[in-house]
Amino acid sequence: MSEQEAFFQPDAVDAHPLRQALLWRLAGYLKPYWPALLALLLLMSLGAFLEVMPSQLTLVMINRFMAQGSLQGATRLVAAFIAVLAGGFIVSFLRYYLLAWVGQKAMVDLRVQLFTHLMGRSTHFFHRNPVGRLMTRVTSDVQNLNEMFASGFVAIVGDAMSLLAIVGWMFWTNAGMALVALGILPLLLVATEVFRRRAGEAFRETQRRYAAINAYLQEQISGIGLVQVNAQEARSERGFRALNEDYLEAFLRTIFAYAVFFPVVEFITSGTLAALIFYAGFKLKAGAITWGLLLAFIQQSGRFFRPIRELAERYNVMQTALASSERIFRLLDNREEIPEAPGAKPVAFEREIRLEDITFAYDADGRRVVRNLSGVIPKGRRIAVVGHTGAGKSTLINLLMRFYDPLEGRLTVDGQDARELRLRDLRALFGLVLQDVFVFSGTLRENILLDRPEDETRLVSVLEQSQLKDLVARLPQGLETQVGERGQKLSAGERQLLAFARMLYQEPEVLLLDEATANIDSETEAKIQAVIERVSHRLTTFTIAHRLSTIRDADEIWVMDQGALVERGTHDGLIAQEGVYAKLVRLQFTESEAA
Ligand SMILES: Nc1ncnc2c1ncn2[C@@H]1O[C@H](COP(=O)(O)OP(=O)(O)O)[C@@H](O)[C@H]1O
Ligand SMILES: [Mg+2]
Repeated sequence: MSEQEAFFQPDAVDAHPLRQALLWRLAGYLKPYWPALLALLLLMSLGAFLEVMPSQLTLVMINRFMAQGSLQGATRLVAAFIAVLAGGFIVSFLRYYLLAWVGQKAMVDLRVQLFTHLMGRSTHFFHRNPVGRLMTRVTSDVQNLNEMFASGFVAIVGDAMSLLAIVGWMFWTNAGMALVALGILPLLLVATEVFRRRAGEAFRETQRRYAAINAYLQEQISGIGLVQVNAQEARSERGFRALNEDYLEAFLRTIFAYAVFFPVVEFITSGTLAALIFYAGFKLKAGAITWGLLLAFIQQSGRFFRPIRELAERYNVMQTALASSERIFRLLDNREEIPEAPGAKPVAFEREIRLEDITFAYDADGRRVVRNLSGVIPKGRRIAVVGHTGAGKSTLINLLMRFYDPLEGRLTVDGQDARELRLRDLRALFGLVLQDVFVFSGTLRENILLDRPEDETRLVSVLEQSQLKDLVARLPQGLETQVGERGQKLSAGERQLLAFARMLYQEPEVLLLDEATANIDSETEAKIQAVIERVSHRLTTFTIAHRLSTIRDADEIWVMDQGALVERGTHDGLIAQEGVYAKLVRLQFTESEAA
């Protein structure tokens, strides 16, 4: 499978995830809550005991009182009955509550751990994993685990205890009847096993298809603009419908298994009752058992089949959850991060940043996007990069920020290899402004500050410098204006100004601009150009320029072509060379003439 295909594949749902290692690792998340788990265990054994009590009381009630036709002296028994019911109520309440509490606590821990882990992944990782898939990890996969905890794991222990209590009670009261009641058990186990296999396979298939629906939905909503502009709604809908029909088909297969299984269990249960009554008929006649005993047994065998029936369903829940946990752990074990050397040094930038014979490819065995590129960015100077689309310009920024490490060659800051520097320090050197600005929902102020300390004078100066002051003055709520999800309420130009303000507030050493003015109207562009002009006198700038007119006075212009640095020099020098740059300038000049 190519990487492209793998990207769009729904998540694999492993067929046999029942692995001890997984369970042990999951158990680790419950460890901090062991006192609560212990309490749960006690509650469950108490619950199991209370489960057989009503039958025992029924038995006594019938044999001792009803048989004599008088209820005299039965008060204590009735009181015991009520106490058992009330006790059962309290135990079951506490059990549910505690179970949910422990489960949710553990899930919070896991979700936060996943989130923190995600935030630390490298850019490469995010390029390979669609957002929808990562969201599924943190939301529904964790939810599946919780379900397993609530109605799998612990419930199975509870069920097992109930079963044990019931079987124990049966043998204790009458071994013969107990044997009759349990005689049918092998048949039930066979039926359960058949069901488990059939339903299990179909169930996993529904999971896979459900994941496909999610992935499709996520993609279509993200691309809604494109869908609507190209009037692709009907096609999208067909795709969605097809996926849903696939899902329905698999779902019906699971339902078929259930629909067969439940009546079979009913049938077996009735068979057991018949056998009990038949057997008891003889014994009653012989006076070997009492009516009370028969009734109590009938009552108990009803309770007996419930946990067994549920066990089969729980198995599916466990399967899903284990598959989820496997995916979660695979994500947690992902080591795609930009490594920081042990004892990484703080960054000192006094002289220059240097790219030394760098070769880079996004996939280690793929096309070289940057080839043997060397260049110096001296402190306080202005470097501009130009070249056709796809030449590798943005990739240089990725390398400078250490979103990726070069395959060959190295990046140095004042002679220190970037790999030996503190990652945070290195990134803090740069103030990055891209063509597409990301704006978080929240206020303008929050978007400028991010989580940096608030400094009102700096903020005022930043607003002034970035020309955002006019906009803020125009807004009735000023800096406290909500910008909407992804900053929808701002125009592209305003978002760009915001990005500059954000960058300036950071007070970086080096300004990195990647076609920052490509998307905006000429009026805003003039504004931004003025901003850049002003700050570039005190900062080092590394500008990827879309419009060549904006970089005329750069100290050095790098001309890139297919990953290589083919020319470098000042504007005048390069024009005089009559090379690639001169051609690019002429091309743009004629374009703007034509416009
Ligand atoms: N994340 C990525 N994964 C794989 N290939 C990429 C990635 N980003 C860019 N490329 C490829 O690298 C080449 C250079 O891209 P880029 O540096 O963005 O070019 P430029 O900014 O000069 O237009 C292009 O051919 C592009 O397809
Ligand atoms: Mg680019």
